[in-house]
Amino acid sequence: MPSLSSSTRRTRPAGSALGRLVEPLVQPGIFDFWVGHLNPAWSWERPLARVVERRVEAADTVTLVLKPNRHCGSFKPGQHVNLSAEVNGRRVTRSYSYTGTPQTKGPNKGLLSFTIKRTEGGRLSTHLCRDLREGDVLELGEAFGEMTLPAQPQGQWLFLAAGSGITPLMSLTRALVAQQMPVDLTLIYWAKTRAELCFLLELRQLAANQPRFKLHTVLTHEAQLLAGEHRGFISAEQLQELVGDLSARQVYACGPGGFVDTARELTAGIARSFMAEGFTPSAPAVDPSELKDVRVTLLKSGRELTVSNGTSLLDALEAQGLNPKSGCRMGICHSCVCTKHSGTVQDMHTKDIDAEGDTPVRICVSRATTDVSLDL
Ligand SMILES: Cc1cc2nc3c(=O)[nH]c(=O)nc-3n(C[C@H](O)[C@H](O)[C@H](O)COP(=O)(O)OP(=O)(O)OC[C@H]3O[C@@H](n4cnc5c(N)ncnc54)[C@H](O)[C@@H]3O)c2cc1C
Ligand code: FES
Repeated sequence: MPSLSSSTRRTRPAGSALGRLVEPLVQPGIFDFWVGHLNPAWSWERPLARVVERRVEAADTVTLVLKPNRHCGSFKPGQHVNLSAEVNGRRVTRSYSYTGTPQTKGPNKGLLSFTIKRTEGGRLSTHLCRDLREGDVLELGEAFGEMTLPAQPQGQWLFLAAGSGITPLMSLTRALVAQQMPVDLTLIYWAKTRAELCFLLELRQLAANQPRFKLHTVLTHEAQLLAGEHRGFISAEQLQELVGDLSARQVYACGPGGFVDTARELTAGIARSFMAEGFTPSAPAVDPSELKDVRVTLLKSGRELTVSNGTSLLDALEAQGLNPKSGCRMGICHSCVCTKHSGTVQDMHTKDIDAEGDTPVRICVSRATTDVSLDL
């Protein structure tokens, strides 16, 4: 079982009368160490979840079903959470989307599911897809993300999913099914090959049984297409062919950063609304003429480092062997925020400059443009 190092502390929910009585006497780390021998998912205050099922979902992709302990928070369909595990002696945290809906009763009560595609050379996805077994334990952060359902979904909707971007859209689709499909929903789902398509059986059954749900699968690298499959990357012509009139559609898109950017451009000014979440950064590279070394002072650990101003502070610190807290690495989850005491940083996405002292900085999307000092 991969052990977990200590992590984000959450406020412990009000516990039992006995819990409140003994709380002043308990050292959480020591308590966790000893009860962990009885059940690895028991903890005084850490949000942990045990793998209760692991199944192959598609090529290089597994679905993990987790049973959380009582410190794990709730979520809304379409949201994500940071999962942490220890890989080769180092704690690694990445974001994954809930693929199910909150289960409040029945045999699946409280269970959470995640579908993870192995990234070639990727640290956590390889660990989760290849090494993790039933009974192993992961640590969870708090749910985040704004791509959720409105209180009363209605109208004509369009989901655009590429690769593992299907995961939050699957959660939203399941939530709409649970509400008897109150919208006209078309899902266009791109994958490289047929073998990489997830949830295919469920989606096809849904398309067959739900008159208001339409499914189009699009394969970009498959030699032979079967009936009903389409080919090609997202384009205006393809959207016209598969959807027709975009103007009434409320669009949700999810996938790699480049896919989401293209989806945004193609629907801008046409679709009724657009919401998206990118899974990989699409920050443009820094102009080579601007590249230089800068000094980063880490005030808490008393270290001074020389790093390039061309990468995010998170990447730069990790490249020097440090392991600052992080999660989505995209500026969404706020796990990596720390205080910048002095110096100037630039947001690599928006290009906004922050030269003020004592401001919070998301180090995953910020690069230092001068020497900086951080509260790390
Ligand atoms: C909000 C959100 C939700 C997400 N939901 C899901 C989901 O539901 N399912 C899913 O499968 N994924 C999801 N992702 C993606 C996921 O968070 C990870 O990014 C993905 O699993 C890869 O993580 P990793 O640790 O395996 O790869 P990493 O170790 O981070 O590596 C990523 C890539 O960089 C390369 N690389 C790593 N280190 C180096 C280096 N030193 N030099 C050069 N290249 C390097 C690797 O080869 C790999 O190609 C989501 C992402 C976000 C932001
Ligand atoms: S790691 Fe999520 S905001 Fe930086």
